[in-house]
Amino acid sequence: MVEQPSSKRPGGAEPPAAIHRRSHARARDLERYAGLFAARTRAMRSSAMRDLMEITARPEVISLAGGLPDTSTFPPQSFAAQMTRIAQESSAQALQYGPTEGFAETKRCIREVMRAEGMDPDPEDVIVTTGGQQAIDLVAKTLIDPGDVVIAEAPTYPGAVPVFSSYEARTLQVEVDEDGMRISELEALLDRLAADRLRPKLIYSVPSFQNPAGVSMSADRRRRLVEVARERELLVVEDNPYGLLRYEGSAEQPLYELDGGDYVLYIGTFSKILSPGIRLGWLCAPPPVMEKVVLGKQATDLCTSTLTQYFVREYFAEGRWLTYIADLREIYRARRDAMLDALESFFPAQASWSRPEGGLFCWATLPSYIDTTDLLAKALRENVAFVPGAAAFVDGRGGSSMRLNFSGSNEDQIREGIRRIGRVITEQVELYERITNVPPASSASRPGAAGLREGSSQAATATGDPSSARIRPGAAGLGEASTGGGSVVPFRRSDA
Ligand SMILES: Cc1ncc(COP(=O)(O)O)c(C=O)c1O
Repeated sequence: MVEQPSSKRPGGAEPPAAIHRRSHARARDLERYAGLFAARTRAMRSSAMRDLMEITARPEVISLAGGLPDTSTFPPQSFAAQMTRIAQESSAQALQYGPTEGFAETKRCIREVMRAEGMDPDPEDVIVTTGGQQAIDLVAKTLIDPGDVVIAEAPTYPGAVPVFSSYEARTLQVEVDEDGMRISELEALLDRLAADRLRPKLIYSVPSFQNPAGVSMSADRRRRLVEVARERELLVVEDNPYGLLRYEGSAEQPLYELDGGDYVLYIGTFSKILSPGIRLGWLCAPPPVMEKVVLGKQATDLCTSTLTQYFVREYFAEGRWLTYIADLREIYRARRDAMLDALESFFPAQASWSRPEGGLFCWATLPSYIDTTDLLAKALRENVAFVPGAAAFVDGRGGSSMRLNFSGSNEDQIREGIRRIGRVITEQVELYERITNVPPASSASRPGAAGLREGSSQAATATGDPSSARIRPGAAGLGEASTGGGSVVPFRRSDA
């Protein structure tokens, strides 16, 4: 029999004597269980952000790692009033199971959110999920058999990688530049796959303020992507947690709207515009797909939390949700600006980064001889954290990049955090330059700065720098988990 973990029970009662206490798994335990694991567990990967959460929860650590919205901005009095109303007026229903698809009232709130971005879904096409993350999982559960091809962006949302791995998908990645996924590269990949009689099960994209790169897909590419999906009868999954968090510029049409909901499945969430703690997201899909998704969700959790659906209903009934988002936008814009200023001040000349018009992240690329997973260990000693770029790839690329979050820390913390990361990078750069006798670079030669060739920070890759070969396993053919598109493109430090 599997022994229970130790410790006292709630209320202080001692566990029965027959239950042994054990604090750590031993080698023999691992052997005992190993033969029971499903084959798919071998392909499961841990989420980089989840791994970091324990460390970054320490109060002395400045975390630029998570994708945390600033929940302290939500007024506690409003929260208390809404929950009190639920307790007084709808206690029995709010504590009960609900329909698998979600309440009609929740779908009305979802429709309001989607209308704010120019979409108008049929409520029948909407299912309320336990966060956007579950929506990704349900789509994968519905569509992917082991070995099926999934196409994602390079880099892609680090939390999607473990989902696709756990369904044993073969994930191929198409590079992203300042205008989002390169659709011409996608088409070339689709041609190569078609020649091998392979049809990807889905193309996963975060077209607006992408996590992790911070870039948005241009209007032309959006149009072309939808055309490609229709021409080739392929499903695109548009994951859009950040569309309403725009700090400058004007919005592009969502893929879902451009397509009309036939070939584009849409994932939304309340996590970044209200609260991730309520775990409420949604998926829009055409009826044949929805039917299977509902069955998949029944098996997973029967229904999404009724209590938090009631909370959302109360909150939207107050009619101030757009004002709250407008307030968030002001706060995050200032934090983004603080991060961009700090990057300019503290990152060495050899670094480049994206300049997001919205969302929660900057993506920075360092010289190819720096491995950001190693760098993270050094940064943590300085009590600062980021997500290493490799988490956003399935094939070991991204080793010199990092994702930096600006929503979860205040401006002083952001500046201090970037100063500390900048210091550990600078130490690495100086060490490398001393060892290799490379003359120090000046900030005027920052990669991607106006007048310089894009990609210059990666020039070492092309010229065969052995250290870059170490961190970049190199171009891969279709047999490997890559488009074979070559090295990672550093983002232009665009002032546009
Ligand atoms: C692109 C993307 N999709 C999905 C999620 C998961 O969000 P949720 O909290 O709704 O599960 C996130 C969270 O950061 C995300 O960035």
